[in-house]
Amino acid sequence: MSNMELITFPAVQTRLNVEEEQALLRVVREGSVLAIGPEAEQFEKEWTEYIGCGDTVAVCNCSSALELAAILSDIGPGDEVILPAHTFVATAVPFARTGATLCWADIDPDSRVLSAESIATQITDKTKAIVVVHLYGLPADMDAIMSLATKHNLLVIEDCAQAPGARYHGKRVGSIGDFGCFSFHAQKNITTLGEGGMFTVRNPEHGVQGRRLRWMGNWPFEEKRQHYWLPAMANVVEPIPGQLPHNFCMGEPNAAVGRLLMKRLDAINERRRCQAGRLRNALSDYPEFSLQHTPDGCEHAYHLMTARYDGNPYGKNRDDLIQLLLDKYQLKCIIQYWPLCRTELFKKLGFAKADIPHTDRFFDNMISIPWWSDMPDELIDDIARRLAGALDDMRG
Ligand SMILES: Cc1ncc(COP(=O)(O)O)c(C=O)c1O
Repeated sequence: MSNMELITFPAVQTRLNVEEEQALLRVVREGSVLAIGPEAEQFEKEWTEYIGCGDTVAVCNCSSALELAAILSDIGPGDEVILPAHTFVATAVPFARTGATLCWADIDPDSRVLSAESIATQITDKTKAIVVVHLYGLPADMDAIMSLATKHNLLVIEDCAQAPGARYHGKRVGSIGDFGCFSFHAQKNITTLGEGGMFTVRNPEHGVQGRRLRWMGNWPFEEKRQHYWLPAMANVVEPIPGQLPHNFCMGEPNAAVGRLLMKRLDAINERRRCQAGRLRNALSDYPEFSLQHTPDGCEHAYHLMTARYDGNPYGKNRDDLIQLLLDKYQLKCIIQYWPLCRTELFKKLGFAKADIPHTDRFFDNMISIPWWSDMPDELIDDIARRLAGALDDMRG
């Protein structure tokens, strides 16, 4: 087996095609230099239509979209925000920055995304918002979450970084809660050249507020002026009461590429679902290696391919499996999303306490398999063979 070629995660999940490369060159040669120019404005309109939300604000990454969500949620010290600990750190930092208390909710053991039942146990009279993460590309149970939010008058922020285009009972994620936050980082299903993001809102007034916050308070003068250059080219405004502005703008070349990639996002996700189906079938004889369960009505974007390895009956554990896959089968797997309550930063912030047994069980036994867009069938079969070989070895 040692002459096998190593399979590992690529640097970029979806490569640009020729048309996308040319769009990039066109903007470089002919584009305007404005921070938010015609490409980004068009991209916002097209994304609003694609997602089916009230408005969209183009931003430089999902972390800044989450910052906008935290600011517009108007939360602060004394308020509580419910969110999963099993997520990328950017989900939590903007809400921690407000001074609110973070309350960790658990995941569902089968779907491995935030569970509504667990959210319900965390709600108190101080709760202001729920941050839902459609982790690995799978929509969380939004009907149950939205009904809790309505009952308790809570805001819902959807972290859609890993699930662009995913649908929940026909609705795209990012159109269901109050705010949606998307990432076009290089490692995501589509990338606007390394960084990029979208902030979607249900209420169009939040779109205006997001734009006022986005570019250092630069804003057109409301009143008619005698000269276009007096008293200055643009006003500088307080974006919303009590808040200073940020620079979260998306660049024009990024937007030009993003507009084209958006057009093939459904095809990219469809192919990823086929890849997942093929791998799942090939491994169906290994119940100790359980992939994420997709509930009815959810259309998974399969951003990542993760499994839980329950090797106890064979006296083995996840770490044995990862080591064997690397040493004997040249398949370099990883683990992801260290529960935030266990990290140095969140312990320091006082958020070490959590009662999340399903998160603990999943993280301590999880494995993430190399995964990207447009993997050929032969490669999926090869990965499945390597995994099956290792799982057989572990059975002894
Ligand atoms: C769940 C989740 N939220 C937020 C982010 C932050 O996205 P960005 O890198 O675009 O800021 C990521 C990125 O990995 C993510 O996976």
